[in-house]
Amino acid sequence: MLSRRNKMGNKIEPCLIIIFGATGDLTNRKLLPAFYKLEFENLLHKDSKIIAFARKEKSNEQFRKEALKAINTFSKFKVDNKVWKKLENKIFYHQSEFQDIKGFNRLKELIKKICTKTTSCNKVFYLSAPPGFFGPIISNLKKSGLTASSGWSRVVFEKPFGHDLKSAKKLNESIKKVFKEKQIYRIDHYVGKELVQNLLVLRFANSIFEPIWNKKYIDHVQITVAEDIGVETRGNYYEKSGALRDIIQNHMLQLVALTAMEPPVTLDAEDIREEKVKVLRSIRPLTTKDIGKMTVRGQYGSGVVNDKKVKAYHDEDKVSKKSNTETFAALKLNIDNSRWSDVPFYLRTGKRLKERVAEITIVFKQNSGILFNEHVKNIEPNMLIVRIQPEEGISLQFSAKVPGKKMIIDNVRMDFCHECKFGPNTPDAYERLLYDIMIGDQTLFTSWEMVEHSWKIVDKIAKAWKKGKVASYAAGSWGPKNADALIEKDKRKWYAPQKTIYSTFLQNNGNKIQ
Ligand code: BG6
Repeated sequence: MLSRRNKMGNKIEPCLIIIFGATGDLTNRKLLPAFYKLEFENLLHKDSKIIAFARKEKSNEQFRKEALKAINTFSKFKVDNKVWKKLENKIFYHQSEFQDIKGFNRLKELIKKICTKTTSCNKVFYLSAPPGFFGPIISNLKKSGLTASSGWSRVVFEKPFGHDLKSAKKLNESIKKVFKEKQIYRIDHYVGKELVQNLLVLRFANSIFEPIWNKKYIDHVQITVAEDIGVETRGNYYEKSGALRDIIQNHMLQLVALTAMEPPVTLDAEDIREEKVKVLRSIRPLTTKDIGKMTVRGQYGSGVVNDKKVKAYHDEDKVSKKSNTETFAALKLNIDNSRWSDVPFYLRTGKRLKERVAEITIVFKQNSGILFNEHVKNIEPNMLIVRIQPEEGISLQFSAKVPGKKMIIDNVRMDFCHECKFGPNTPDAYERLLYDIMIGDQTLFTSWEMVEHSWKIVDKIAKAWKKGKVASYAAGSWGPKNADALIEKDKRKWYAPQKTIYSTFLQNNGNKIQ
């Protein structure tokens, strides 16, 4: 549950949230449902307003109607009319091209009008537009004087932040001319997910885990971010991005950093971000030869996902028939520090895989005692599985005796089901992140150093992948065969995500929440 004060005791202040690219997928799927939930929780200040800035001609009424439709479609909560009425009155639509300074001047006028009626002129500029427009938007914000007008201003960038290190640096420099680092919020919504935030607690608040969280006890770590959906309507963007830039450069490296980091000095943003960056800096740089051996990419062909026939990636809208873009990526990383040397991290992600699941699996070393050696053939190692989605939870896998006279050992799991314990009201990642922006807490946002080091890792792979052809995998599978070979040559295997006790619980309770 979020509260009206943050950990520094700051209160939620009124502000104007200007969303650039407000008719896009992200606004509909994530931002509007998150604003609805914040309103429901009474966490959107009564004087706050949302200004939807986009290129299409629309009236306030038309946009509000579409916003309600999006909330009805994408929110897991049943819309309460009283809550919607409160939110509806806070939403305004503003039409302009991103490059048109006149549109920004008109925005300034609109803001002036709204500000006089409220107590403050604080502004959040939320850039949910395609990255190519970040430069023009920032420059027009400055030219129009919007960044210098009264109240505080904060600027939010959706990923991807740049296309490679060079473009990210250029973008950062242009932003730095207008905003200070304290005003910049680079979003990685995976960090806002509840179980990802829970990693710090799991590791550092539990005396049973921290002492064994190292190379002495851990054999390896595997992280899976699998999606069952394809590229949907985003072929244009995805053709230039691929799985490496779309997921590995940001979401997955954040998960690696949080799993591997040393305890921060305090829970303050700076201290946590500093420890995360150190992990990325310790990742052993991949040589061209390593990339051939330690990375795998694939592209989905046609197949069956969730009992439905689906088309191949190259037949999707706005995708080239000859596309060589990867929709699947797997890699092995080594972290060269005293905690993790010789403990590989295996990462895999892809679209149109068998199911939607995100998990971090800590695989412990097998017990070397001889007592049960003859019984351990089919026994899996002890594992701690952090289930980020679809259901949230943590499972501990260990060995137990099967009832009966014979000594037979089986794998069993102890499950912590997040929703069973805490109920269905866990804030969604965007709800948490929007709240943090309004309250001025940068802890869950990506620092420039993190962006810089993640591009350093990814650029090398992207460069090597320019040569050669991407392998195909059937939609509905777990990716190309080579991904299995990547881990099997180290005498390990990917552990398929299992249906947990809590997934059954949640399926039975899967309707909209009242
Ligand atoms: C986004 C990617 O950052 O994350 C998308 O651009 C992907 O391609 C999405 O589908 C996955 O997010 P989630 O929260 O549904 O796992």
